[in-house]
Amino acid sequence: MSPTKRPRYPAAVTPTHPEPKGNPVSAIRPAAVVVLAAGEGTRMKSATPKVLHEICGRSLVGHVLAAARELDPQNLVVVVGHAREQVTAHLNQIDPETRTAVQAEQNGTGHAVRMGLEELGGAVDGTVVVVCGDTPLLTAGTLKQLARTHGADGNAVTVLTAEVPDATGYGRIVRDEATGAVTAIVEHKDATEVQREIREINSGVFAFDGALLADALKKVRTDNSQGEEYLTDVLGILREAGHRVGASVAADHREIAGINNRVQLAEARRILNDRLLERAMLDGVTVVDPATTWVDVTVTFERDAVVYPGTQLTGSTHLGEGAEVGPNSRLKDTQVGAGARVDNTVSDGAVVGPQASVGPYAYLRPGTRLGAKGKIGTYVETKNASIGEGTKVPHLSYVGDATIGDYSNIGAASVFVNYDGEHKHHTTVGSHCKTGSDNMFVAPVTVGDGAYTAAGSVITKDVPPGSLAVARGQQRNIEGWVARKRPGSAAAKAAEAASRRGESED
Ligand code: UD1
Ligand code: MG
Repeated sequence: MSPTKRPRYPAAVTPTHPEPKGNPVSAIRPAAVVVLAAGEGTRMKSATPKVLHEICGRSLVGHVLAAARELDPQNLVVVVGHAREQVTAHLNQIDPETRTAVQAEQNGTGHAVRMGLEELGGAVDGTVVVVCGDTPLLTAGTLKQLARTHGADGNAVTVLTAEVPDATGYGRIVRDEATGAVTAIVEHKDATEVQREIREINSGVFAFDGALLADALKKVRTDNSQGEEYLTDVLGILREAGHRVGASVAADHREIAGINNRVQLAEARRILNDRLLERAMLDGVTVVDPATTWVDVTVTFERDAVVYPGTQLTGSTHLGEGAEVGPNSRLKDTQVGAGARVDNTVSDGAVVGPQASVGPYAYLRPGTRLGAKGKIGTYVETKNASIGEGTKVPHLSYVGDATIGDYSNIGAASVFVNYDGEHKHHTTVGSHCKTGSDNMFVAPVTVGDGAYTAAGSVITKDVPPGSLAVARGQQRNIEGWVARKRPGSAAAKAAEAASRRGESED
């Protein structure tokens, strides 16, 4: 049931940056990317290290790595410090090729890069790109643009800059008034009143010549307001030594925003989500209400899929061609087949076949597989259950640890009784079966092909193919019981009236 033509989205989502022709990634391939992620992120006020916070299904540092990987660097090193065991474990999980360098004390961005280069054996021959681990909106397109500018201009260092509405806290880009060339970066805390008026800021992302960087870092001093080794000082050092210093201006300043608190985390999530939905819509997906639709970077769609309001799609969820999901649905790692309909549903790890129907108000748990044209209806919960083609479980039922064949119908309010208090057991129902309403299938038990079961049955023994199983008490009517036991009650009067009507009819 796995969907066939699934479009592959790039690992990091780039908006609409056209790729310049004739400049392949190999031409701008950096020798190394160094990701700075040693800081604590105090303003997140969290037990979780800042770079491990998530937006759209990926950690902040995960987004940065995904963008950096698209440059195809020979080496990728992440500088870790605060909560380094936790951060390193996460990195090993998401990108085992990544190396880590430990910066035990956070003595500044220059010191952090020095630690990164040491991990790579000192000076690196070729381009070294430095990025921060907390800028999840930075796109591969912008990084490539930086690397291209760096190479094309023959710079010793190229800084990624942006014009921002409010530059407070950022390092300012100081340019030569006559030539416009970048002369220095001045940290907010060290800037003069006039320099603080500058709205072009340092994004914290750079491309360097590796050998010149290693050299210049040795000369960085700590005589600044924070007593730190500033990476930004490398710019002035290289310039004074007569090397070329350049800048690449980001088209969208929102890309370079670093996340420092939960407000910025939410803003970044909104922006990234918008980007993902925009891409899906341009690819032919109808998103009825982008404001209340949330998706992970790993979610994929085929054309003519429709997403209704209040829907959250996460993990490896995939919507097939013309599939409709929502409103008010939460699908995790769920495959929805072409033309299937999923309404007001919570699902985790399920596969819904083509043209099948789920909900409203269904709960699909891991291991649910619904065949083509099948139905899991209202107030139905399923788990580890394979439900065949055209088979229906329409109302108020629990199907756990079961295999049901094709074109069977499970009566309303049935329970697959899978748990004896110690172990889980399996139930098998064949094809073309019609089981009655309010059945209990006490596992392990098998209902053969074409069999029927009577309503209200507790099925504890196997049912041979083609049989009718009846497993309930015989009905007994005790006539006149109400008149004797509840004399004068409304029930007794109603019964009496009914019996009089019966007499007059005779
Ligand atoms: C830095 C820049 C500033 C720029 C801003 C962009 C310097 C001196 N300043 O300032 O010009 O406008 O970023 O957001 O570079 N880090 C380490 N180890 C350290 C210090 C920092 O790994 O010892 C990491 C942090 O985890 C973070 C990044 O480097 O990912 C930037 O550090 P941060 O302290 O946020 O620098 P800013 O003061 O914002
Ligand atoms: Mg910062």
